[in-house]
Amino acid sequence: MLAKPRLHHEIVQQAYDPCIISTESGKAQFISCEPQKPDEKLPKLEDCVIIDNRRPVTGTRGFDREIPLSGALRVYLVSSYSVGSQDSLSLGKYALCPLLSITEWKPVTGSIPPLSDEDWESEFAKYRASPEFQLLNPHMNLSEFKSIYYMEWIHRLWGRFVGLSFVIPAVYFVAKKKVSKPMAWRLAGIAGLIGFQGFIGWWMVKSGLKDDLFAPGSHPRVSQYRLTAHLAAAFTCYVAMLWNGLAILRSHRLLADPEAGINLLNSLQNPKLKIFRRSVAVLGLLVFTTAMSGALVAGLDAGLIYNEFPTMGNGLTPPKSELFDERYSRKPDKSDLWWRNMLENPSLVQLDHRILAMTTFTSVMALWAYTRGSPTMRRLLPPAAKKGVHGVVAFTFVQVALGISTLLYLVPTHLASTHQAGSLFLLTWVLVLGSRVWHPSRTAKLLQMAVKARNQSVSASALNATSKL
Ligand code: HEM
Repeated sequence: MLAKPRLHHEIVQQAYDPCIISTESGKAQFISCEPQKPDEKLPKLEDCVIIDNRRPVTGTRGFDREIPLSGALRVYLVSSYSVGSQDSLSLGKYALCPLLSITEWKPVTGSIPPLSDEDWESEFAKYRASPEFQLLNPHMNLSEFKSIYYMEWIHRLWGRFVGLSFVIPAVYFVAKKKVSKPMAWRLAGIAGLIGFQGFIGWWMVKSGLKDDLFAPGSHPRVSQYRLTAHLAAAFTCYVAMLWNGLAILRSHRLLADPEAGINLLNSLQNPKLKIFRRSVAVLGLLVFTTAMSGALVAGLDAGLIYNEFPTMGNGLTPPKSELFDERYSRKPDKSDLWWRNMLENPSLVQLDHRILAMTTFTSVMALWAYTRGSPTMRRLLPPAAKKGVHGVVAFTFVQVALGISTLLYLVPTHLASTHQAGSLFLLTWVLVLGSRVWHPSRTAKLLQMAVKARNQSVSASALNATSKL
């Protein structure tokens, strides 16, 4: 059982003005104060101007933006999860993000860590020039730097290993003509996506190394936009791999018994199943969009405010003036007020994620009710698809429960990581369900050819047997 976090007098967020502070009494939370310097004591509450008194804003996580950072890379392939999660450490007294410790992207030569003392000195010098070192960790020494460097180096090496473990077998299968031409093109596309993912990961980390991207006084972090782009690329890559893998497995299974396979595919061609198929596609998109909005929540640390559910402050939503705050607009005519708040204002970003999550939840329940309630669906849906719907329902419940717990317990690493992994499991199940009701035209043709070939060989052997009579 998790213990409810204690309230601390501690600055938890400095990425935007005003910073968020939580107090032992829980009274003052949004305050305007000078940014904390590494050596400085926390500002006294009496010295701060309280500009907002939102009730449930508390938090203790501080500077660790690494969780979603590493998370985005982790989704790259499920197997990268455990390595990436190690990047979410805070080394003792230091506020740091291991991802920011290697300040360059060298896809090939970067596989070798610094070997000599001079190499280490040179790497450390580059890190010392970064805003993270200068603003947060100016007292870090070389041996402490080595620890975070190795953490990130292992992370990147694992990424290369995962990429190569896809590319090498893919080249073999294509060269040996063991896959069809369309599949060879798809494999090439996925390999390209993996490479692009590496690049986009670097582009994201770069945003945490440039201080001109931050508001003055804010703590170095990667841009929430780039973090979301990285997660989107990772999810797309994963979806492409999974969908193609499922298609191959399914064709194989159906070809084992071509007659039964043709019967199944014929039943799936029923036009009444069209609505169901489209609903599953829309659901997949909805889960994807909800996950991307979650990345924005993580990128902005927006899970550290409004740690309650279903309310947000005194009502179901914060006041409109807070949701569409003019301070986020950068144009004199305020034409960017809506979208800037939707993507940059933590209060509205959290609300967006809640709304999308609840829409996903409701849609899944509606799909479940439709499959159970409609006699046509009960008759037409194959048993595997009915089981698939149950799987989606179960994962949705788990995912929503994890999301709410992550929020209530102030985003502890283990819950946040499990919540992130949960989104991938949910998406996986939606795709599995989709693959069970899809009608792959190429497989249908292969099945017809297999039946024809089998009939021909049966009639040839029947002719043979008759001639022997
Ligand atoms: C279908 C439902 C949901 C999906 C697919 C989903 C997905 C995600 C994803 C992918 C992230 C990004 C994690 C990261 O990059 O570190 C995230 C973050 C988050 N989600 Fe959800 N979520 C769902 C429901 C919810 C609900 C119902 C809540 C609570 C009301 C919630 C609260 C959060 C919070 C607080 C974060 C930020 C965690 C952090 O800072 O690391 N989520 N979500």
